[in-house]
Amino acid sequence: MASAIDTTQVFKNDLFSGKVLLCSGGGSGICRGMTTAMVKHGASAVIVSRSKDKLEKAAEEIRKETGGQVIAVSGDVRKPEDMENAVKATIEKFGRIDFLINGAAGNFLAPLQGLSYNAFKTVIEIDVMGTFNLTKAASEHLKKSRGSVINVSATLYYTGVPFQLHAGTAKAAIDAMTKHLAIELGPHGVRVNGISPGPIASTVGMEKLGAAFKRDGSALDYSGVPMGRAGETMDIAQATVFLNSQGASWINGVTLVVDGGSWMTSSPADYPKMVLNPPKLARL
Ligand code: HXC
Repeated sequence: MASAIDTTQVFKNDLFSGKVLLCSGGGSGICRGMTTAMVKHGASAVIVSRSKDKLEKAAEEIRKETGGQVIAVSGDVRKPEDMENAVKATIEKFGRIDFLINGAAGNFLAPLQGLSYNAFKTVIEIDVMGTFNLTKAASEHLKKSRGSVINVSATLYYTGVPFQLHAGTAKAAIDAMTKHLAIELGPHGVRVNGISPGPIASTVGMEKLGAAFKRDGSALDYSGVPMGRAGETMDIAQATVFLNSQGASWINGVTLVVDGGSWMTSSPADYPKMVLNPPKLARL
């Protein structure tokens, strides 16, 4: 269970009252924290992903934690018609869309030889096509509200990371999309930015990495993070509230790295060793 999300110590309580968030991947991990924070500040939210049961449970828990309005709509970000449906459901229920978070992502560790054509395609479709599909479906409503979009990215491709060809490629494309959309939607009053989270404890991503590299069950080592700790979903929630607030009203087309400085201390010099002597990657 992720740590409690409370950004109201730093940001005003009613910052997003009367506003509406649509978030893909909002049922778990980082995106669930982002959604919780937005709802704590008064927004109503629609969370969308494939797993209906997981999503309903998450919506109920966020409602309980925040006292706010959250509904779950199941849909696959790879299917444009599902995203059109998620937008329709949001408008029917809440009448507007002010904030869009494109958070749905797929990932696993796989070396090039172990990465099937379909595996690469699947991650590109979830991450890249998913971001495009939902943004396109929501864009006219975002223009009406002069809203804000946050695309969840990663720093993987800054250095290139072994066994992450699929995810790094997808996130590079997402960062490109953030810039193109910022140019195209900015004149309509819509800001489009990204957040690249570093290693966040207790997320599916970190569980997968941990299980692959630490089969002995020992904890992942965060000593290489300049800020000396793993990230929390709260760290990403704070950045989300800031980017969606009027405090960021002149920030457009930027992907904010929220990682305690981690990516700069990753060790590309170790990568050849990892490639030539790979860990036995668990298939999760
Ligand atoms: C190699 C794998 C694999 C693995 C699946 N595949 N897992 N290949 N290693 N561990 C292959 C399958 O064999 C198949 O190819 C293809 O990928 C599609 O798999 P499916 O299971 O049919 O797809 P699907 O049900 O759509 O599942 C998508 C998924 C899954 C990505 C594989 O893990 C998923 O839905 N994940 C969502 C949650 C998630 O992963 N979140 C993490 C986000 S973290 P073949 O050829 O056999 O048909 C993140 C952070 C990035 O994004 C930064 C990290 C630092």
